[in-house]
Amino acid sequence: MNIYLRGDLGAGKTTLVRALLQALGHTGRVKSPTYTLLEQYEAGGLHLRHFDLYRFRDTEEWEAAGFRDEFDGCNVCFVEWPEKAQGLVPQADVEIVLEILPNGRNLTLLANTEAGRECLSLL
Ligand SMILES: Nc1ncnc2c1ncn2[C@@H]1O[C@H](COP(=O)(O)OP(=O)(O)O)[C@@H](O)[C@H]1O
Ligand SMILES: [Mg+2]
Repeated sequence: MNIYLRGDLGAGKTTLVRALLQALGHTGRVKSPTYTLLEQYEAGGLHLRHFDLYRFRDTEEWEAAGFRDEFDGCNVCFVEWPEKAQGLVPQADVEIVLEILPNGRNLTLLANTEAGRECLSLL
């Protein structure tokens, strides 16, 4: 499962991933992968990968860092700023779009694949 998180800086992308990990039973810290680009978690019987590609620049780094291997069909990948690595990050099954409102956030869920549609139908 590949999930894109879209929205401006401060929209709440990392906060949402943190809440999802905690809901799955993760009790440790959830750092923003702003500098490391990737943080890994095992929770709820799932292999979770949290990318923040805001600072991603180098196409060669994609292969060198082994990011391609993370999208293996077994991991659940959450990707902030997927547009920074356009053409490298595989298509999203689900896209989450966050918009800042004066009083909270607006969240839109989009399914792009059959797996994504199945996932959203279970909510
Ligand atoms: N749903 C929300 N309602 C109000 N404040 C929020 C919400 N989600 C996140 N925030 C706050 O917005 C700030 C930035 O959130 P963050 O998750 O780091 O944004 P992003 O990862 O999109 O840049 C944090 O201080 C966080 O507490
Ligand atoms: Mg973030």
